[in-house]
Amino acid sequence: MMASMASLRLLASAAVLLGSKVDALAPGPRGQRAIPALAQVIDQKSLNVLPSVPPAVEFNASSSPWIPQTFTSAGLVDKPFHIYDDAFLDILGPNPTFTVIAQTPKDPIFHEAVVWYKPKDEVFFVQNAGNADAGTGLDKSAAIFKISLKEADAVKDLRNATGKVKVTQIPSNPEIPNPNGAVQYKGKILYAAEGQGPSKAPALIVLNPIEPYNTTVLLNNYYGRQFNSLNDLGINPRNLDIYFTDPTYGESNNFRPAPGLQTQVYRYNDKTGAVTVAADGFIMPNGITFSPDGKYVYITDTGIWRHGLELSNPSSIYRYSVLEDGTFENRKTFAFVDINIPDGVHCDSKGNVYAGVGDGVHVWSPSGTLLGKIYTGRTSANFQFVGGGRVVIGGETQLFYATLAATGSLVESQL
Ligand SMILES: *[C@@H]1O[C@H](CO)[C@@H](O)[C@H](O)[C@H]1NC(C)=O
Ligand SMILES: *[C@@H]1O[C@H](CO)[C@@H](O)[C@H](O)[C@H]1NC(C)=O
Ligand SMILES: *[C@@H]1O[C@H](CO)[C@@H](O)[C@H](O)[C@H]1NC(C)=O
Repeated sequence: MMASMASLRLLASAAVLLGSKVDALAPGPRGQRAIPALAQVIDQKSLNVLPSVPPAVEFNASSSPWIPQTFTSAGLVDKPFHIYDDAFLDILGPNPTFTVIAQTPKDPIFHEAVVWYKPKDEVFFVQNAGNADAGTGLDKSAAIFKISLKEADAVKDLRNATGKVKVTQIPSNPEIPNPNGAVQYKGKILYAAEGQGPSKAPALIVLNPIEPYNTTVLLNNYYGRQFNSLNDLGINPRNLDIYFTDPTYGESNNFRPAPGLQTQVYRYNDKTGAVTVAADGFIMPNGITFSPDGKYVYITDTGIWRHGLELSNPSSIYRYSVLEDGTFENRKTFAFVDINIPDGVHCDSKGNVYAGVGDGVHVWSPSGTLLGKIYTGRTSANFQFVGGGRVVIGGETQLFYATLAATGSLVESQL
């Protein structure tokens, strides 16, 4: 494995130097595995020693991606599947595709809560709440949109299919105030809503994903207290309880009052109505997901962004063991991301972990080895496996559609 990877990397960098196409290597002279046309190998050794390393005021990985000397921004986008480890080839398969399926001039409508509505093979997502270009937050809620996967699939061999996939806004009723996270839930969609101003409390709200798009509130308080601004949620496949995170981004973005609870992770049992605290000790608990067997939970802490950028705070994914009774133990640092924050987090059916970060989607093995990146070159807060190896990735003002060999994992109440 090591030797073949090292030679792949050598060949790949030689090909880059010669200006030839990396896919011209397929299959390698010693029978190495072919590199898909849209993929490139990143030789991490070549990044270890740089001619000069800038201080944090010049480069701090907060917003614009790091472009190492030997690469160009266009080159990284041109072959968006970046192989950091051989095992990423199994995730990609022989012919992964990557397409920009929609774009807006500046309104960040492709932000979060990417979720598959299986019965109609549609994907729903939401606009950025509290963003100046969206005009959302306090006076107006972030809106919900959807696309048809049939239309996305028809253009998967194009790189830019802007205009070919229709984006439809849907009116939730009563309106979900600033939805931010979503899961499939008993044939419907369950949203984590951040709330809007002091009177519209954050809540877990079920949306009927077909007309008239009516909604029902499942939970809107912790024994009488408002949550701060609910962010994301995940369903434990072993007990089907709903676990959700409550950071204070509503306050950071000036559309929610000062927090009335410490930031923590909650658990809701929709059979008994019991609400409990599953974990605390986070600055900004954000994305949450379970491994396919339900034995682990991954929770991100995006404390690096709270009141602006605080560079020495976490930008990390933590893993806990999940016991039979649904409680967590053994908190472990799983990964620290190199660019911006790990926002949405999801597993594939083999338990590999994917997070939406500042330059696309990063993928780790269950033991935390960075396997590769799906590089969008822009903040990609969330994404989702939407049936088989189809993946929809939000990129604020761009929406991406990728097809991989890896497939997502869905639990019973998500079907
Ligand atoms: C991060 O870097 C940018 C320039 O790339 C700079 O404007 C900003 O002040 C830096 N932030 C911090 C907290 O150092
Ligand atoms: C895709 O094409 C449209 C024009 O059809 C253009 O406005 C847009 O910038 C292109 N997007 C990308 C990401 O290349
Ligand atoms: C939508 O309305 C229908 C008809 O009243 C009702 O049966 C259903 O439970 C509602 N769904 C939601 C999510 O509110």
